[in-house]
Amino acid sequence: MDVDPASPILLFDSGVGGLSVLAEVRKLLPDAPVIYAADLAGLPYGTKTEAEIAARVAGLLGRMSERYKPRLICIACNTASTIALGMVREVLHTPIVGTVPAIKPAAALTKTGTIGLLGTLATVRQSYVDELEAQFAQGKRLIRHGAPGLVRAAELKLRGGTPDPAIIAEAVAGLRDQPGGEAIDTVVLACTHFPLVEEELRAAMGDDVQFVHGAAGIARRIAYLTQGQEFRRAAPDKAVVTTAAAPDLLNLFSPYGITEIESL
Ligand code: DGL
Repeated sequence: MDVDPASPILLFDSGVGGLSVLAEVRKLLPDAPVIYAADLAGLPYGTKTEAEIAARVAGLLGRMSERYKPRLICIACNTASTIALGMVREVLHTPIVGTVPAIKPAAALTKTGTIGLLGTLATVRQSYVDELEAQFAQGKRLIRHGAPGLVRAAELKLRGGTPDPAIIAEAVAGLRDQPGGEAIDTVVLACTHFPLVEEELRAAMGDDVQFVHGAAGIARRIAYLTQGQEFRRAAPDKAVVTTAAAPDLLNLFSPYGITEIESL
């Protein structure tokens, strides 16, 4: 079936984290119409229960696919993907690209064999992460830490604020202070918010630590799945939020080519 050239790619996150994925999508697919959806009323996901997250994600994506008829949905959020991806795929007919912790590339990069993983509290406890570890990091040590403060730091930074160095230090200590933590040479940023504070994390961890995240790989997957499709931007790209669409919120999204905002 032919895809409507104006049909958007919908990127979904709890907040601004998915913008780290949108930045990569723009590089590969500059002409693709995009809707960026942020469940700001549900932010943060990382401190919620699995049931709460699954219900929100499934409900919101259902409503948004009816309303915006996207050609593809990207769940640009590790927390939502590791919990709800399978469930959402069962009920929606739209192709769905998820975001999962980049353990595989990290395992290929580490020299010391010790990998750190920073995610939300909900992500680090998922069996999905256990499975990735068993599949791709055999013989390596994976040290996980749930760092909800980094979500707040990234949200603040995109609003023009300066992340509190104590929050960055807490996240780094959460990895380094675990047994074997001093050997970490590669860190998986397993939350789409965290690449937005990569600079601060790098400064705190040192230049010999490499950071890995999935944004570029996700963008490549989206480009692959939409190969051969025509793109025509019939309307300006917009952000959809679950709070009131206060006009100053648009400042968050406009550097990423989003020029309108509406409330779901
Ligand atoms: N950006 C999200 C992720 O990738 C979650 C942030 C949150 O809402 O806690 O996990």
